[in-house]
Amino acid sequence: MAVSEDIDAAATAAHGLISGAATLDALKAAEPEILGKKSALGQFKRALGGLEPDERRVVGQHLNAVRETVSEALDDRRAELAAGERRAQFEEERMDLTEVPTDPGLGHLHLVTQTVQRLEDVFVGMGFTVSEGPEVETDWYNFEALNLPKWHPARSMWDTLYLNLDQGDNVLLRTHTSPVQVRVMQEQAPPIYTICPGKVFRRDTADASHLPAFHQIEGLVVDEGITFGDLAGTLDEFTSAYFGGAIKSRLRPSFFPFTEPSAEFDINCVICEGSGCQTCQRTGWIELGGCGMVHPNVLSNVGIDPERYTGFAFGFGIDRLALMRHGIDDLRDMFTNDVRFLTQF
Ligand code: DAH
Repeated sequence: MAVSEDIDAAATAAHGLISGAATLDALKAAEPEILGKKSALGQFKRALGGLEPDERRVVGQHLNAVRETVSEALDDRRAELAAGERRAQFEEERMDLTEVPTDPGLGHLHLVTQTVQRLEDVFVGMGFTVSEGPEVETDWYNFEALNLPKWHPARSMWDTLYLNLDQGDNVLLRTHTSPVQVRVMQEQAPPIYTICPGKVFRRDTADASHLPAFHQIEGLVVDEGITFGDLAGTLDEFTSAYFGGAIKSRLRPSFFPFTEPSAEFDINCVICEGSGCQTCQRTGWIELGGCGMVHPNVLSNVGIDPERYTGFAFGFGIDRLALMRHGIDDLRDMFTNDVRFLTQF
């Protein structure tokens, strides 16, 4: 049938247009010519009205079938082109995550951590072990066992932060690393040669020289025949190992409830090496921490016989040490985490 052949020819042309469209835009532009009202296949649809009913039925069915196939081919081609364009876009925007950046911008240990590690190295080199204890303590470990009964006026030396756990004033954030001494002595029989670095907390407002959370390092030696001379010698040895030979240490009488006798230990100013400058207020010395011979009551509190054993202890602040060593003038810089500050160390 002639009409049928014409329809087939028009369909072939339509399929040619479909497969010939290289882009979605081109396909869209060709659509009126493929199935639109003015397209060949559209014209046939309109011409159906002029046919005899019998012929109209046959030609109509054929035309519908053909149009259906063309329409499906159009949809398929549209989907294919869209997928291709999406693929091309992905390829273009793809990031190579295996690529190694030229400046990886890696971080490093914080100045305080570096300082703790150096201190540990020096003391481990002198034969000390490293011990740790909890930051949340009970009143007994933080005060009582250290010869500071509840009524002791020296408790006011530490502005304490208590935890609200419905246990009265029994649970607190440790105000110093000294409670770790108590824990070590409970767990271990003498001889004890240990240091305990860690975080401590006080009810202080942050300013250039104070922080409510800072770091201390505690030292504890308990053995037979330990004397005050051992304490002085150990601190002096530490001072030159850590700061270099030019820096000396000295002891001044002081008071701590957990040591008797007690002393404050100073080192030569690390900025001027003892000649006097602004940092040391022209004295040539800076105060580092406290120390003394472990009080017999403290030894008794943990079941160590004070008639047989003696010991010494010391404790000092780590943040301030790092501050002095690097000529930093505000302690708060240590913890505001400004990378411009941090990357300098
Ligand atoms: N715990 C004291 C403080 O925070 C420092 C200290 C002094 C520690 C004397 C000691 C010591 O071990 O013997 O101020």
